Amino acid sequence: MSYNLLKGKKGIIFGALDENSIAWKTAVRVHEEGGTFVLTNAPVAMRMGQIDELAKITGSQIIPADATSEEDLQNLVTQSMEILGGKIDFVLHSIGMSINVRKGNHYTNQNYAWTQKGTDVSAMSFHKVMQTLYKADAMNEWGSIVALTYMASQRVFPDYNDMADNKAYLESVARSFGYFFGRDKKVRVNTISQSPTPTTAGSGVKGFDGFIAYADKMSPLGNATAMDCANYTVTLFSDLTKRVTLQNLYNDGGFSNMGVSDAVMEIFVDNQ
Ligand SMILES: NC(=O)c1ccc[n+]([C@@H]2O[C@H](COP(=O)([O-])OP(=O)(O)OC[C@H]3O[C@@H](n4cnc5c(N)ncnc54)[C@H](O)[C@@H]3O)[C@@H](O)[C@H]2O)c1
Repeated sequence: MSYNLLKGKKGIIFGALDENSIAWKTAVRVHEEGGTFVLTNAPVAMRMGQIDELAKITGSQIIPADATSEEDLQNLVTQSMEILGGKIDFVLHSIGMSINVRKGNHYTNQNYAWTQKGTDVSAMSFHKVMQTLYKADAMNEWGSIVALTYMASQRVFPDYNDMADNKAYLESVARSFGYFFGRDKKVRVNTISQSPTPTTAGSGVKGFDGFIAYADKMSPLGNATAMDCANYTVTLFSDLTKRVTLQNLYNDGGFSNMGVSDAVMEIFVDNQ
């Protein structure tokens, strides 16, 4: 169902790789709600993914940008304003990558060159995106910037590896930069902490199937889907959430406030 919540709003959406991507679903929902946007992803993802198809569905243009490159980001912001015909109202940062996770390096056996690369891509890129927008004065007042995170930033999930540290960094950047963006430009900055979701990035985590099933059993409402996340993001881009900022917002079916659920207890209770 569409409510026209984003009519007339213009944005940039990072991170749509294929139709499972959270950013893909968000682009579809933002389009349905009347928003227009530029799609962007790393140049390598242009070859691997299906972003062209998404651009067709949503009537969007694509500008490749490596989110770790300040030059690429400056070009992206300048070109987006030209294409969209003015300043930006919303930005989705939906980017994550750990080489240690991908190559199966345990948290206690990091390759630090990979760790640094993962931090640059997954966390520092959020600072770079915001600094580029801020310096170019590219955001409209009452605009909204959202990044995606996972609760391993706050609690221990052993197999989430160095991505846990990257997400803690990302959430801190949202607060720190969000202060200046709010004070100086009236722009809000939030992170959404999403349930485990079957996507390319998500499925890379060791034991993901167990992980997702456990979270589902622990959550009174069950895991939030990628589409649930897209819908939540639409509300954060809309004028209905104008003074929500510096927050880490859980979209996780209640998981983050649970201790244990009946469904999980059942596995351990001796029924004889
Ligand atoms: N899937 C989950 O379980 C889950 C849960 C909570 C949060 N998240 C977060 O959601 C976000 C989106 O991930 P997803 O699950 O949709 O997976 P995904 O693999 O579809 O998206 C990750 C995206 O990051 C992009 N990317 C990687 N390196 C880049 C770079 N240098 N420059 C620009 N883009 C780059 C990839 O091309 C890809 O499009 C990530 O921040 C992820 O950590 C995912």
